[in-house]
Amino acid sequence: MDSIITIDGPTGSGKSTVSHLLAERLNYRYLDTGAMYRAFAIAVLDANVNLHDINEIEETCNAIDIRFVREGELTKVLLNDKDVTKKIRHPSVDLFASNVSGLDIVRQTMVRLQRKEGVKGRLVAEGRDMGTVVFPDAKHKFYLDASMELRVTRRFLERQKRGESVSRKKVKEDLIKRDHQDMNRRLSPLKPAKDATIIDTAPLDINQVVEMIIKEIKGANTER
Ligand code: DC
Repeated sequence: MDSIITIDGPTGSGKSTVSHLLAERLNYRYLDTGAMYRAFAIAVLDANVNLHDINEIEETCNAIDIRFVREGELTKVLLNDKDVTKKIRHPSVDLFASNVSGLDIVRQTMVRLQRKEGVKGRLVAEGRDMGTVVFPDAKHKFYLDASMELRVTRRFLERQKRGESVSRKKVKEDLIKRDHQDMNRRLSPLKPAKDATIIDTAPLDINQVVEMIIKEIKGANTER
């Protein structure tokens, strides 16, 4: 577990950008577990699966194949060989991915797939429960956070940049809802692992956060 770095945190904390850059800097692989839950949500939507029917959910779990394929700068997300890279980022998927992530069997399936990636080592694993549940023995754990207002602003700008017409008010409402759901669910709620380093990303730019993490990792490695 020495070569697994976990990065958890809420929406808009900067964890995706940081994790991506960190993996590049260290020449590690990057596992975007939010993208996995999003892909699962697409599978459910596409097949019109009834979320209240455990057999249908189980069938989807058994048939699911999610792969990440690097193409230059871009990482494509393939769901059962279909490119869903763009589709999983659609705002309508945000809350639905959070909904399906609260289901026991879905989490079990995802955790199994995530640990399979972990076994290969040299991994930056990003999500909500990487340090607490999926890789509790990881040597390096980080939890990124920022104030609600700043996270809303980041998310709002991100969506504007994508050309979406959305109000800041709506972005804030969605974020509050999703935070609440992700932090209060029965299974693997979002929270920092006891041994995680908590970083407030508000006063820092992305490169400073990455530098801080690298410094901490190097420090921990020389202490051994
Ligand atoms: O990080 P994201 O916004 O792409 O994640 C989408 C949803 O997936 C998030 O609201 C909760 C869920 N998720 C989770 O439950 N556990 C993870 N490790 C990653 C994401």
